[in-house]
Amino acid sequence: MNSVRHDLVVLGGGPAGYVAAIRAAQLGMNVACIDENSRFGGTCLRVGCIPSKALLESSHLYEEAKHRFADHGLTVSGLQMDLSTMMKRKEKIVDTLTGGIDVLFKQRGVTAYRGRGKFRDIESIEVTGEQGTTLVQGDRFLIAAGSRPASLPNIEEDGDRIGNSTTALSFPDVPKRLIVIGGGYIGLELGSVWNRLGSEVIVLEALDRILPGMDSELAQLAHRTFKKQGMDFRTKTMVASAKRDGDQCIVEVQGGEPIHCDRVLLATGRVPTTGGIGLDVIGIPTDRRGFIAVNEDFQTEVKHVYAAGDCIGGMMLAHKAMEEGIICVERMAGIPSHMNYDVIPAIIYTHPEIASVGKTEDQLKEAGVDYRKGIGPFGANGRARTLGETEGRVKILADRKTDRVLGVHIIGVRAGDLIAEAATAMEFGASSEDIARTCHAHPTLAEAIHEAALAVDDRAIHTA
Ligand code: NAI
Repeated sequence: MNSVRHDLVVLGGGPAGYVAAIRAAQLGMNVACIDENSRFGGTCLRVGCIPSKALLESSHLYEEAKHRFADHGLTVSGLQMDLSTMMKRKEKIVDTLTGGIDVLFKQRGVTAYRGRGKFRDIESIEVTGEQGTTLVQGDRFLIAAGSRPASLPNIEEDGDRIGNSTTALSFPDVPKRLIVIGGGYIGLELGSVWNRLGSEVIVLEALDRILPGMDSELAQLAHRTFKKQGMDFRTKTMVASAKRDGDQCIVEVQGGEPIHCDRVLLATGRVPTTGGIGLDVIGIPTDRRGFIAVNEDFQTEVKHVYAAGDCIGGMMLAHKAMEEGIICVERMAGIPSHMNYDVIPAIIYTHPEIASVGKTEDQLKEAGVDYRKGIGPFGANGRARTLGETEGRVKILADRKTDRVLGVHIIGVRAGDLIAEAATAMEFGASSEDIARTCHAHPTLAEAIHEAALAVDDRAIHTA
């Protein structure tokens, strides 16, 4: 068996792992990165953020051409949708980006190992791949093993008619009726894709609301909007089972009639993939759900073994994982950087988009924080009018006494891009007055943030 030694061995080439590997190489470490997939990039690049956004864009354009072009005096005749071209475009984007990581690794001198990695002892990981088995030794290790879609008992997933987000990114045809189990991020994004492409989409959500954890006022607005778009939401609906019956599926719900459909998307959260990587061999425990505990240096109980990203819990977001990967290796190198978990934006790429950062209004109420609130509606925003995208609003929540911005929540076109201003402001400890005194270019969507900041102090210009 070949054996190679590195300063740092990263197990997992997703957002936490590949970014950490590149940063560690920049800092002068001799780094290896192991991934069992032929393409680096993890769930995000291969079967998550990137392919889903590609399909969201394609399906959005289709929707626009069908229903919105006429507003502009544009007539489209003979509009057709070719699903296989749409899928090929998505694959090409994934190929380009995952291939880009190979290039970055080469440029930075990161050694890539393709194969399944498993700790053999506290100094080495055995990597088994197509090329055989290699023993990769290291002074330090970073576990960035990520997560996978959670399964549910009695949901008979076959990866075809009944599947998870990966399955729903590559349906071979447009389902007539798609049942989505779970009204969270994935349910809404992929539900939107297939709804736009012509499926009847029914979202079954166990709770009494969609998007748990999201600001409830925004979630309600979102619910209304997606309902208008044709999605059918059944809240307080607990799914008991789903099974395939030929080309059909039958979904049983507690206390209700069975629902028949042609495909089922299970989107009820994700679980860490920390099993089978030899954590027991080196004495790193996981909690009941499989997460690894770390300290603020991202060190596990075994001091030279670190962990970051989805496998340590918290928000399962690619950018949180990337940031953790960077900070983990910087701290290894003695740079005193740290994570600010209070300012991690979250975005749902529906249309309109939903984006938030900081505390929700519900959290502030629950904590008894005295706050002021300002709303900047897109209906009063010139740029939104020209785009024909007047739906939605910006909500800023600021501490009543100090005026410090505590949370910003946006539903509206390009909310995902707009939230960056809010995140930057909050990272710098901005007050709503700071945002209100910042000259925002006109006409831009960002003026809705400005308007919301003015509204916190009851001096909005374009809204009464
Ligand atoms: P999620 O946690 O967002 O939503 C799961 C939903 O399923 C919840 O509303 C929950 O109440 C519901 N549920 C659970 N069991 C159920 C049952 N038996 N019957 C009916 N409903 C049930 O999880 P999701 O959508 O699977 O996403 C997984 C993770 O991936 C999220 O944590 C998210 O952070 C990440 N993600 C992020 C995206 C983004 O940043 N744009 C896009 C997609 C995923």
